[in-house]
Amino acid sequence: TPWQPLLFSPLLGFTLIRGTHDPDDVDQIKHLEIRDSDVFVATYPKSGTIWLQQILLLVEAKGDVTAIRNPTIVSNADIMPWMESIGTREMFITAPSPRMRVTHLQPQFMPLALSQRGKVIYVARNPKDVLVSYFYFHKMAKMLETPKDFNDFFEKFLRGDLFGCSWFDHIKAWYSVKDEMNMLFFTFEEMIQDLKSVVQRISLFLGKDLTNEEQANVVKHSTFKKMKDIPQANYKQVSEEMFNHQNGMFMRKGTIGDWKNHFTVAQNERFDQVFQKEMKDFPVSFIWDIK
Ligand code: A3P
Repeated sequence: TPWQPLLFSPLLGFTLIRGTHDPDDVDQIKHLEIRDSDVFVATYPKSGTIWLQQILLLVEAKGDVTAIRNPTIVSNADIMPWMESIGTREMFITAPSPRMRVTHLQPQFMPLALSQRGKVIYVARNPKDVLVSYFYFHKMAKMLETPKDFNDFFEKFLRGDLFGCSWFDHIKAWYSVKDEMNMLFFTFEEMIQDLKSVVQRISLFLGKDLTNEEQANVVKHSTFKKMKDIPQANYKQVSEEMFNHQNGMFMRKGTIGDWKNHFTVAQNERFDQVFQKEMKDFPVSFIWDIK
């Protein structure tokens, strides 16, 4: 059989990436002890994960970008890795506080103690833009399969046949545990519209008392333009074994509504139908909402 990048784990009922994740290891995450100072960023892929890495690391450094522009760091993931990646769980146990991690997992795989300790930031993004961003990411990420064409990928997304599974299940699962955890919930679109106020909310949530100037520096160094110039923030230094940098980049467009340049009228109608069916009981209406 040919090499299959995606790894559906019957144990977890969740799709991972072969070589990047180990289902048995992921299954152990729920037993980890949590400290009050632990911070997790939970996202469906392509919803602003690396943006949050940049913001959180800058908040921690009080806006001092040299904490990131550091020759000993390849990417922000060195300091704020994915919880589910092979090797991360073991490092997490002994890592010094504050332990900051990102994850694309659903909440049922996260440490059980999260309901009493630690903090979670969930970022949601218009799934139509997520789909487009994920399509391009599959072209550059060597651990993922290059899409046959846009329509084929479109159907995979709606089926949840990707790492992260269904976008709909992801947001619903996290939202359903919002009140059981210490969780801040906002959207990528809010960040695009008013980054300053999102940074303020994050600082407040993390109990970081930043001066106006420090906060302004966090905002300044986490704009799309600035991040594009910082190799640690934009993943340009990550090895060619993982990313084909000729085929695309993490900092691709950073806009709202790129789906309009990709969806046909029929695809859009089909997407809206699935969205309405899946999200009909969801208590929040988003600014990207379908009229
Ligand atoms: P696009 O492909 O639409 O450009 P993730 O980090 O979860 O993989 O998400 C990547 C997406 O977030 C990409 O979307 C990327 O451009 C966008 N992004 C990252 N940093 C950003 C920033 N500072 N401003 C706007 N968009 C940003």
